[in-house]
Amino acid sequence: MLGLSSMDFNEGVPPERTVFKDEGSLSFEYVPPSLPHRERHVKTMMNYFRYLMEDGGGGFCQKILLIGRVGTGKTASSRLLGRVMRRELEGKSRHFKFIYVNCYRERTLFLVSQRLMEEVAPSYPTRGLSPQEILRIVVSILEDKEASSIIALDEVHYFVKSAGQDALYNLVRMLEGYEGSKVKLGLIMISRSKEFMYELDDVLRSSLTRNIIEFEPYTSSQLMSILQDRVKLAFKDSTVPQDTLEVIADSVGVDRGGSGDARLAIELLWRAGKIADLRGRGEVTPDDVREASGFIHPGIRVEDLRSLLPHEKLVLLSVAKELKRGKAYLRMGVLEERYRGECELWGVKAKKHTQLWKIVKNLERMGFLTTKAVNVKKGRTTLIGLPSAPAFLLEKEVSKLLAEDLGGRAM
Ligand SMILES: Nc1ncnc2c1ncn2[C@@H]1O[C@H](COP(=O)(O)OP(=O)(O)OP(=O)(O)O)[C@@H](O)[C@H]1O
Ligand SMILES: [Mg+2]
Repeated sequence: MLGLSSMDFNEGVPPERTVFKDEGSLSFEYVPPSLPHRERHVKTMMNYFRYLMEDGGGGFCQKILLIGRVGTGKTASSRLLGRVMRRELEGKSRHFKFIYVNCYRERTLFLVSQRLMEEVAPSYPTRGLSPQEILRIVVSILEDKEASSIIALDEVHYFVKSAGQDALYNLVRMLEGYEGSKVKLGLIMISRSKEFMYELDDVLRSSLTRNIIEFEPYTSSQLMSILQDRVKLAFKDSTVPQDTLEVIADSVGVDRGGSGDARLAIELLWRAGKIADLRGRGEVTPDDVREASGFIHPGIRVEDLRSLLPHEKLVLLSVAKELKRGKAYLRMGVLEERYRGECELWGVKAKKHTQLWKIVKNLERMGFLTTKAVNVKKGRTTLIGLPSAPAFLLEKEVSKLLAEDLGGRAM
């Protein structure tokens, strides 16, 4: 969500005054040792992949699909499954690898194949090799090591959109190996909606349709137990009363008209803790939560923003800067001019018009921008808008991320 790092919070609260014990366990990437209300999901996944734990076998690649709205625990559950399986297999002195691929980042067959190679044999020289060749090598290395592995393709709809409908089919086919292959592999695909499946070929679609695990949005009582668990990990004893958690759970729970998004609930908890520290009360109150909700915008998530390429960020920043003055839309021509200015400012070479257009379309597909064609005096032009996040917040966040990318070359 936008906002997590957009407030200049109280760094340097003395350790004896803060309510936190381990703030890191509230971060987005943290996967807790157990996921309440997802035990069944993890168990179902385990059952699908049981063959990876058994001796012999091989040459089979189970494919499953996790579907659910934002913050319903899809990514966390797949990572937890990876952890549990690794522990079990290591106990039997067997190799196991869980490979996580974020398709917002690894969006082509080439990038995915490189990512897999990086995990399997980081020093293997891949220069000049085609994705097909790289994948063949990856599979044969896994075979040689007699390793079991699970590959999670997160945000897989984006891979299908960006690499084309055949790419996923080809990827799967190549991973399954050739006739007689001994590779022991499993595939988890993750997406927020099933829509992308219509673009798949019949064989892949029907095999995925059989293995769908649905992740429902959380109710307030489910969120309550998730938050209680997290409080124990992240906060000092008796700093977060139950009332405070109830306020969060009630505002986010799907049964109360909320989104049922656990990420939002945890972020509210974290932010309320920061506000409590700022006040120096040593306790997180319901009012801290109410104040915290004013700082969060659930429209766009920082993790998604972070995975954008530098030029995508530059385009988004240009749009945000133009629209924060109160305009609803800007024209493609205006964007182009502003974008060139930003590139100059950041010391990077601007992309040409056709590439810029592709970037805009990509950002639209990912949900960061909207575009609509309109008639003007001289013909037609495209108007670009921001669907969900306030421009000023977006500007702040994207500038910060760009500074990380480009090493703070400009501000
Ligand atoms: N059942 C749960 N118990 C504890 N924490 C959870 C649970 N479900 C989700 N979370 C936490 O909520 C956050 C969001 O979860 P996760 O990233 O898995 O969601 P997601 O379904 O992948 O969402 P998105 O579609 O936005 O990627 C993470 O910090 C995760 O640890
Ligand atoms: Mg996710």
